[in-house]
Amino acid sequence: MIPRPARLVAASLASLALLGSSRVHAISVQFTRVSSSSSSSSTPETFNISDAQKDQDGSDVFDYTNSNNVSGSDIYVASLSVAGQEFVVQLDTGSSDLWIDTSGVDLSGLTATGLETGLTYGDDTVAQGPVYVGEITFGDFTVDSAFISAPGTNATTNNDKGLLGVGPPQLSSIFQTLSGTPYESFGMTLLGNVFASNSSVPQYTTFTLSRSFATGKTDGGVFTVGEVPSNLSTVLNAPKLNVVSDDRWIVLLDGIVVNGRNVSGGSSFEVSGQTTGQTLANLDTGTSLAQIPQDYAEVMYGSVPGAQFVRSSGIYILPCSTNLNVSFVFSGVEYPVHPIDTVAATRDDSGNVVCYSGFAIGEDNSEDWLLGDSFLRNVFALYDYGSFFNESSTPYIQLLSTTDADEAYAEFDSLSAQRNQTLSSDTSSGSSGSSSSAALPAVRSRLGPAAIAVAAVVAGLCLL
Ligand SMILES: *[C@@H]1O[C@H](CO)[C@@H](O)[C@H](O)[C@H]1NC(C)=O
Ligand SMILES: *[C@@H]1O[C@H](CO)[C@@H](O)[C@H](O)[C@H]1NC(C)=O
Ligand SMILES: *[C@@H]1O[C@H](CO)[C@@H](O)[C@H](O)[C@H]1NC(C)=O
Ligand SMILES: *[C@@H]1O[C@H](CO)[C@@H](O)[C@H](O)[C@H]1NC(C)=O
Ligand SMILES: *[C@@H]1O[C@H](CO)[C@@H](O)[C@H](O)[C@H]1NC(C)=O
Ligand SMILES: *[C@@H]1O[C@H](CO)[C@@H](O)[C@H](O)[C@H]1NC(C)=O
Ligand SMILES: *[C@@H]1O[C@H](CO)[C@@H](O)[C@H](O)[C@H]1NC(C)=O
Ligand SMILES: *[C@@H]1O[C@H](CO)[C@@H](O)[C@H](O)[C@H]1NC(C)=O
Ligand SMILES: *[C@@H]1O[C@H](CO)[C@@H](O)[C@H](O)[C@H]1NC(C)=O
Repeated sequence: MIPRPARLVAASLASLALLGSSRVHAISVQFTRVSSSSSSSSTPETFNISDAQKDQDGSDVFDYTNSNNVSGSDIYVASLSVAGQEFVVQLDTGSSDLWIDTSGVDLSGLTATGLETGLTYGDDTVAQGPVYVGEITFGDFTVDSAFISAPGTNATTNNDKGLLGVGPPQLSSIFQTLSGTPYESFGMTLLGNVFASNSSVPQYTTFTLSRSFATGKTDGGVFTVGEVPSNLSTVLNAPKLNVVSDDRWIVLLDGIVVNGRNVSGGSSFEVSGQTTGQTLANLDTGTSLAQIPQDYAEVMYGSVPGAQFVRSSGIYILPCSTNLNVSFVFSGVEYPVHPIDTVAATRDDSGNVVCYSGFAIGEDNSEDWLLGDSFLRNVFALYDYGSFFNESSTPYIQLLSTTDADEAYAEFDSLSAQRNQTLSSDTSSGSSGSSSSAALPAVRSRLGPAAIAVAAVVAGLCLL
């Protein structure tokens, strides 16, 4: 059975993205592996991370055959090298395989295992092909590890050439495929091989995903392996959120607070350790926005004056002035979401700025919430692998809030205006300028009529 790891670059954004027009936007930010020796003043190993956003030209607006190639498919990427060749890959905590689009790439120096595998993502894209083993360099780590050679895959988003899944090996197709073969040890995921190569490296990774306030979208970030940037070391004192899944980074969410109102409950799951009101949240860097339960979306957006629900896409179209106070509560600690992430913006085909819910309605059978970048941009996150590899401890996530609720609320109007300005002054449009209203509701949502019916049956939320 093919796992369906979480990664929804295109799914929730697709139709809104279709509104866009051609625009290349590449901001480079340091993507840092901080030096591990605390005493040392050596320069941290740095490599570039850039947002791989690239917009589609107007002619593709109704082309659904390749809908991951659209504007707004913002992803966070880094580069790694395979047998000395450099590839830009998306970093995804929601899946666990490394694959590369090897079109035109010489693989002759690599070991072909003779085995094939593949995976289908939540956005219906597929990466499949033969499994190779080769020397892979990521930051200052070099290890022999397996990857899928997927020439011509439709799972690349824009300028990326592959994807590095940093989830648990149990979700990895490569891990399952190589299990019991002579190549087994190379299949425990790239991170697993990194940790196995040096037992002094603490078995965790950290992420900071930044945003461009001008666009409200991806703006690079920092990723570390086994180290915490010094100015964020207080994350180590944050509550340890036990991971409650054996193949995904899912933790328990106490509830959310919307304009001072606590909301909890309605979980479709029952797992050990889950207390009344708690729901399951997958913290997934590979999802551009977020997919949340319908009842919660109604509380967040349903009563915003002027909100328009677009059923086919599971989103609300909102006034761009919508300044919501929303926090997520994990282990009793509130993590505010910047309103610039709560209300996303894009440009329609005729050049008008359109704002919509940064948290869309969506369901799948692994968790209640798929919290992607619209949530993760508001925290510094540490993912400890524990027993996902060979330690005895329960894997956990620690979160440090990086958004000040009052400040965010106060600066929202000017940031929103700035974003509007950036989007509306973008004249690089290749669009025909027609059919904007037709393009709008075309999101390729995973939420079909059946899923909506299920959501309606879920026990009511607890509103305090
Ligand atoms: C990183 O980006 C900067 C600025 O775009 C560029 O000058 C530099 O060569 C890049 N470094 C690497 C390792 O790609
Ligand atoms: C991607 O390609 C696979 C076939 O390899 C196809 O089944 C799938 O529908 C395609 N997905 C998208 C989103 O185009
Ligand atoms: C987007 O898709 C079109 C055809 O569907 C293709 O011609 C174009 O090269 C793609 N652009 C990118 C950046 O992948
Ligand atoms: C597992 O444990 C062995 C022996 O303690 C160690 O050498 C190896 O690096 C560990 N592997 C991982 C992935 O942590
Ligand atoms: C192993 O990792 C430790 C801690 O990060 C580091 O100090 C050491 O140099 C590494 N050893 C090798 C052989 O890379
Ligand atoms: C931590 O330091 C980095 C680099 O010096 C900086 O970019 C980042 O904003 C800082 N983070 C916080 C939360 O202060
Ligand atoms: C609402 O949740 C917060 C935690 O974020 C808690 O401190 C507060 O007591 C809750 N209020 C009510 C009325 O339950
Ligand atoms: C949102 O929070 C700000 C302060 O951070 C407060 O002034 C404002 O009244 C709040 N709005 C609502 C609707 O709760
Ligand atoms: C965006 O800015 C333009 C020009 O300043 C203004 O006319 C328009 O109403 C704004 N759009 C939104 C959605 O706020």
